[in-house]
Amino acid sequence: MTTVTDGSSAEGTTAKGSQDSLRHERRASLEHGLSLLMSAWEEFDSARPHQPPVSAQTTDLLASGLPAAGVGVRRALDEAAAILDESLAQSRPRFFGYVGSSGLESAVLADALAASHDVNLAAESEAAHLCEQQALRWIGEFVGYPTAGGAFTSGGMLSNLTALMAARTEALPDSRVFGLQGARPVVYCSAEAHSSIERAAELLGIGRSGVRSVPLDADRRMRPDLLADMLRDDLASGARPVAVVATAGTTLTGTVDPIDAVADVCEPLGVWLHVDGAYGLPAASTELAGHLFTGLDRADSVSLDAHKWMFVPKACGIVLVRDQSTLAKAFCHDSAYMVEEEGYAHPVDGTLEYSRPFRSLKLWTALRSHGADAFRTAITGNLILAQTLARLVREQPRLELLVESPQLSVVPFRFVPDQPGIDLDALNMRLARALQSDGRVYVTSAVVDGRACLRPCIVNFRTTAEDIRALVDLAVAVGTELAQG
Ligand SMILES: Cc1ncc(COP(=O)(O)O)c(C=O)c1O
Repeated sequence: MTTVTDGSSAEGTTAKGSQDSLRHERRASLEHGLSLLMSAWEEFDSARPHQPPVSAQTTDLLASGLPAAGVGVRRALDEAAAILDESLAQSRPRFFGYVGSSGLESAVLADALAASHDVNLAAESEAAHLCEQQALRWIGEFVGYPTAGGAFTSGGMLSNLTALMAARTEALPDSRVFGLQGARPVVYCSAEAHSSIERAAELLGIGRSGVRSVPLDADRRMRPDLLADMLRDDLASGARPVAVVATAGTTLTGTVDPIDAVADVCEPLGVWLHVDGAYGLPAASTELAGHLFTGLDRADSVSLDAHKWMFVPKACGIVLVRDQSTLAKAFCHDSAYMVEEEGYAHPVDGTLEYSRPFRSLKLWTALRSHGADAFRTAITGNLILAQTLARLVREQPRLELLVESPQLSVVPFRFVPDQPGIDLDALNMRLARALQSDGRVYVTSAVVDGRACLRPCIVNFRTTAEDIRALVDLAVAVGTELAQG
């Protein structure tokens, strides 16, 4: 007989022991965890004087073997906080690298709640499913896309892959069963599209050689006239256009392709139009930048990362579609362990992932807490800071702007010393690394038109004009030191 309560039998002892080892003083742990969270949040309000290096203590801890016995939750949480303190946190206001984020507090709390309940969105989940559907409608309304559904994903990569899988299934309906069977599928995108498009093409059997890179106009936007020429030539040669991907905010320079004109090319040919707005699409909600996204409502699918410019923590990618049945056609499967009764389809039949966490709850909670206008204001604030940065760069004789009028919030620029004969590309690559080691700002390098530069991206609601001035001053000061040294 198993006696769990007093542990008097061998079986009972095992059952009780295993329960006890995962139990802890929950309230004390929670209070401690909350105090660590509050300290982090207070720290993120302003820039830290430097980024601490990974300490010897952390290095030792992270080289240790599997612990047979635990140290207790309080100590483990302290160690976790130390690891985080010595990591690069995108939530800090002077993190300008890549396309960062903010770790919005209300969404962090919702994420903790979602993790506790650990709902699985692959199968029926009652209110969680309704919440995901509502969050999809809300974000569609926010950016002006008449969505009929979609899914929350792990990010832009998975959203783009999902959309292109739906497009491939539309263009080549038998491909799920028989493969590509000698078809020559082609995907078109801007020469500066994100590499996730190439990756998706590799995964979908289209191959990198099936990705046509459409040349850019003087404003770095995909040229619809050349896209039309490419499509015509490919159709004439028997290739099969699967999709055109317009980027709504390129990662390199924040440029938005002319979506309406691209849709004009796609529609008569019946070619799927996908808009990759993983980074830039939230700006469609603003008065300042909304006009750049005209034609978005004509897209067949759209990607947007709420963990970028909607400020919520990772992972919170979104793919939206105009026709939900396209996702069902691309992903439905019969399985004996998830039986579908009376026409009911499990949500997994419209997504690539199986087990799927309740990612939408953090965006839902954030929108419900603060309201859409607060997001629009924060995004507008970032757009204005990008204009301020461009102006400060123009005014500073030692800096050169590489994109004369940035459309969104990426502002590539480089340091140009007054000493002649210095290799500017090598100097600016070193400058990016030197600023990262300095730790007062974090900015990454990029290459625009063959010229190495710094590529700050502003997508954090905590960033202020003072932070922007600090970036400019530090780029000049550290750049001058490097050039002299
Ligand atoms: C335009 C664009 N698409 C796709 C991605 C990939 O997004 P994720 O890193 O969330 O997979 C990015 C990332 O920066 C991006 O800027």
